[in-house]
Amino acid sequence: MMNKTIEIIKDHRSIRDYKSDQIDESIINEIIVAAQSMPNSINGQQTSIIVVQDVQTKAAIAEYAGGQTWIDEAPLFLLFVTDFYKTNLAAKKNGLTQQIHESVESTVVGAVDVGLNMGAAIIAAESLGLGIVPIGGIRNNPQGIIDLLNLPKMTFPVAGLAIGYPNSESRKKPRLPINTFRHDEKYQTENLEKEIDNYDLLMEDYYKAINRAQTINWSTSTSNTYKQVYFPKVYPVMNKQGFNNDK
Ligand SMILES: Cc1cc2nc3c(=O)[nH]c(=O)nc-3n(C[C@H](O)[C@H](O)[C@H](O)COP(=O)(O)O)c2cc1C
Repeated sequence: MMNKTIEIIKDHRSIRDYKSDQIDESIINEIIVAAQSMPNSINGQQTSIIVVQDVQTKAAIAEYAGGQTWIDEAPLFLLFVTDFYKTNLAAKKNGLTQQIHESVESTVVGAVDVGLNMGAAIIAAESLGLGIVPIGGIRNNPQGIIDLLNLPKMTFPVAGLAIGYPNSESRKKPRLPINTFRHDEKYQTENLEKEIDNYDLLMEDYYKAINRAQTINWSTSTSNTYKQVYFPKVYPVMNKQGFNNDK
């Protein structure tokens, strides 16, 4: 063991089965403060988190996310919002016109910052014995989420995080071999196909071990998702929110 923090990070697995136990406000606050402590682009602090504990609101989110029952079960749901509304107030205060939200750069900046905030929230939650599962499924119906949670223009719901005390352990999901992830000095393409073949076999065993009926592996599941634009409402709704993504 290198140290406790790294051990917790390496032990991550998503949890989709929660106890009904509530989470103390002091713990929720600690998770949110940890999330806000991450570095962020230009100190613009272009993230907001909506803290949802209301049962009916969570039920609506679960529905919008394609019927993900673990959102109902988890006592806490955090919605990570990329937020150029606050930075626009800064622009107004200074008599300037904000342009960043019209550039694809805002989408990159916003997603990176949200990812960092969410990563810290995950590690904080897991270090306190909680389980989590990120929820990209909210982008299935971004307008529904925007209306439900009163998100203003120049904001966009990037991802959610369901949090609760685990009711059962899940099995740690193996990752692609580290040499497909770590490229020393320059990008290495040579071994990727062979490593993907090996990983597909490993994942077939993994899915068998967790009693998935069908034979799936990494390349079948990934390619079946990526053969289409799986959340087609993201682009039009982002546009409507003011993220033109045309510069
Ligand atoms: C941004 C993001 C969005 C995700 N969206 C969902 C989701 O909507 N529903 C879900 O059950 N899991 C979701 N996941 C969890 C991934 O499926 C999971 O992290 C991945 O399969 C690896 O498994 P592990 O987290 O157990 O290691 C999401 C993960 C991330 C990072």
